[in-house]
Amino acid sequence: MDFRSQIVTWLAGQTGLERDQIDAWIEIPPQPALGDYAFPCFRLAKHLRRAPAKIAEELAGQARGNIAQLADVQPVQGYLNFFVDRALFVQAAIEHVLASGDGLGRQALGAGQTVVVEYSSPNIAKPFHVGHAFTTILGQAIYRLYDHLGYRTVRVNHLGDYGTQFGKLIVAYRLWGDEQAVAADPIRELLRIYVRFHDEAKERPELEDQAREAFRQLETGSAPEKALWQTFRDLSLKEFSAVYERLGVSFDSYLGESFYSDRIPDVVRLLNERGILIESQGAQVVMLDEYGLPPCIILKSDGTTIYASRDLAAVLYRWEQYRFARNIYVVGTPQALHFRQVFAVLDKAGVEASKNCVHVGFGLVKFPDRKLSTRSGDVIFLSDLLQESVDKTREIIAENARLRQTDMQMAEIDEAAEKIGLGAIVYTFLKNGRERDIVFSWEEMLDFDGDSAPYVQYTYARARSILRKAEAEGQALPGTCAPVLTSEDEFAIAKLLDGFDQAVVRAAELYEPYILLRQVTALARAFNKYYNHEPILKTGDLLLRQSRLALLQAVCQAIRVGLDLVGIGVVERM
Ligand code: ARG
Repeated sequence: MDFRSQIVTWLAGQTGLERDQIDAWIEIPPQPALGDYAFPCFRLAKHLRRAPAKIAEELAGQARGNIAQLADVQPVQGYLNFFVDRALFVQAAIEHVLASGDGLGRQALGAGQTVVVEYSSPNIAKPFHVGHAFTTILGQAIYRLYDHLGYRTVRVNHLGDYGTQFGKLIVAYRLWGDEQAVAADPIRELLRIYVRFHDEAKERPELEDQAREAFRQLETGSAPEKALWQTFRDLSLKEFSAVYERLGVSFDSYLGESFYSDRIPDVVRLLNERGILIESQGAQVVMLDEYGLPPCIILKSDGTTIYASRDLAAVLYRWEQYRFARNIYVVGTPQALHFRQVFAVLDKAGVEASKNCVHVGFGLVKFPDRKLSTRSGDVIFLSDLLQESVDKTREIIAENARLRQTDMQMAEIDEAAEKIGLGAIVYTFLKNGRERDIVFSWEEMLDFDGDSAPYVQYTYARARSILRKAEAEGQALPGTCAPVLTSEDEFAIAKLLDGFDQAVVRAAELYEPYILLRQVTALARAFNKYYNHEPILKTGDLLLRQSRLALLQAVCQAIRVGLDLVGIGVVERM
């Protein structure tokens, strides 16, 4: 158990208060002279009916000898200041990491509970653009975190494979489609004819009518339209899969919007049973005034379904299938209102599952000098962005290899470029709170000294090279640490290692992978600082040197597991 937990457990035992409560009251003193942790005893004054200063004195007397890793505890002005025994603390932190292996941060928090994580969900026949990159990368990290915490996870790709735009696409394809061109480069070609449809429909409004008719045919299951739609879906998914594969992303379910169109009658029946479906201007709606929300349309006046009705059906279906403890939607913040309406309709209908639904929003992706929109055809494909990043990275690595005259061969350079180039993009999406907009900058993304994937990956490679060198020199790596590491730097590193488990839990609970990514980046910084003035391999004393090598191993392990959890790979050299 880490030092903080020891304090919490002990204080909870002394006072009879909840651990969580105690933990929330613990403070980190602004100056080291006031201890590593402090507890403000005025919090207990009412409960224990004594003055804070008195409580602090009494507790200090009892703490000594009863908290592991405790070096000293001092009552100062109503505070209890705890000082950790550094050598023991650093040792415990390192050995915990080493003993955990790949399971570092793993916990059984979610045992017996299922979490549905819906992410990516691109639209068929439309480009997989950088907005979808955000949900894909964020969703994947959230899924990995929950998986690590012992939840049973179901990854859902709620494909946008339904809607009136398919009527347009069918008409456009019949007019201008070229089978070979579509097979060769599906999305670009489908996008081209879709854009052309919009251009020509301005002059020829009858195209819109034809599109509506084609969609109606599709909805009623007419074979030729269905076949075209299926082709669009299959080809699109094939193209998306290439991006998923590159990013190491996969799903347990690809049930998209079309799957739910047949299930809308169940939704309508439920809402009618609860007496909450009413007619308004020809449409069937659920009023949501009591939730402070605009009405949610379930069926349009022509009887067709909308996006929201399909989402309602999807919640019911998932509940039936998975009895989820949480049903998480990783979808851009512009859709926040939509999800509030969907969850409110379910709540109003008395569907228990609504309480377990969460919308996890995220900001916009901006390119300082490029804009994004499907209609104009001027859009950034994620596949191009990934390739650009990998290519740029390859240049940098090849140049470094030349300058440093390493023996890295092309194949190794390629592999490193792939991991670092993709890592740089993933890092960019996850480095800040998800609600923040992202402004793309190659300089920042590929800055080997900044807050970037390459920086952390470089630190890892550097630490690994020291370990390899130690082994090459015949130095044993015993993988255990003696209570001998007490410097400021070693203590700082140990604190970051010690906080790893907590960072995983917080990142999952808040749906904020940046919490873990920052922890890992801080660890990389602390390690680089340490290594710059502590030549580990030259340490004379054997026990000290072996303990430092153990620290190094622990740092590597925490970086590797931490990066892996958010979807970034490591390399041995770069
Ligand atoms: N396909 C939609 C889009 O690209 C996102 C779907 C979000 N998920 C959902 N259940 N509504 O904007």
